[in-house]
Amino acid sequence: MQVVRSKRALKAILSQQVNKIIGFVPTMGYLHEGHLALMKKARLENEFVVASVFVNPTQFGPSEDLEAYPRDEEKDQKQSERAGVDLLFIPSVEEIYPKDVSAQIKAVQAVDVLDGKARPGHFDGVLTVLLKLFMLVQPDRAYFGQKDAQQVAVVQNFVSDYFLPVNIRVVETVREPDGLAKSSRNVNLLEEERKEAPVIHQALLAGKARILDGCQNEKEILDAVREVLRAATLKLDYLALYSYPDFKPVTDFTKPIILAIAVQYEKARLIDNEIVRVSGGETNATNDDVC
Ligand code: PAJ
Repeated sequence: MQVVRSKRALKAILSQQVNKIIGFVPTMGYLHEGHLALMKKARLENEFVVASVFVNPTQFGPSEDLEAYPRDEEKDQKQSERAGVDLLFIPSVEEIYPKDVSAQIKAVQAVDVLDGKARPGHFDGVLTVLLKLFMLVQPDRAYFGQKDAQQVAVVQNFVSDYFLPVNIRVVETVREPDGLAKSSRNVNLLEEERKEAPVIHQALLAGKARILDGCQNEKEILDAVREVLRAATLKLDYLALYSYPDFKPVTDFTKPIILAIAVQYEKARLIDNEIVRVSGGETNATNDDVC
């Protein structure tokens, strides 16, 4: 695996990969098995795999954890190599943002809810850096995790609206054995918080079960989630369900639904989600008594 830090070195190596199918995995580093699953899938599907490690400042709000975001470049290099990455791009902030931009990207669809609402400007920053990275790497395919479901939707819309020549591939959420979604931020959980945190996924599963039982009452579904969280010390940032992937209020419970949650612990904000598909025989029952 080669490691490069400059656009120039990146381009030099890419220019040697004539006619190869290129897969790209953008990350903010502090890699875990979620990231590695994306890299491994990219390895299987492409002839040349590029990954990036860049903690993108433009997607963090002023009061967010940019400074506290965990970093371990050495480990990231080892892990990427083991996952089959050919070229790892680790640019500095100056390399990606050498000067103020002359035109800005603003996400306007599917961003008035969940993280888009809770983190104003977050998805503008995500799209800005991804456009820059896509232009530099020019991948055939780019890999994203379902854990950040709203990010997937926003990126997919962007790529489709602007005819960006990249195919977005989505990989399922990778979890710890106890169900906690893998996240770089998990390392910032206090010991007691880490013990409690699996309750986030358990709560989502309780809500999912309610929907699959045929419950079509949003409040009752969300109450089932809250009930599991009742004794937890975490602070609920948001808990909601929307149609998926368009993030609109649910009007038809037979269409895919996303049940999404964000919680705030002392030093870590965690998100998770479950997609529920009632149609296709997954439902357990449909009657009015279930909620
Ligand atoms: P980061 O949080 O490092 O995540 C990089 C990619 O890994 C994202 O596509 C994310 O959805 C995926 N990922 C994270 N945890 C995962 C898990 N438990 N299972 C499966 N996939 C997981 O997302 C970002 O960085 C940034 O916003 C980025 C796209 C790199 C732009 O800066």
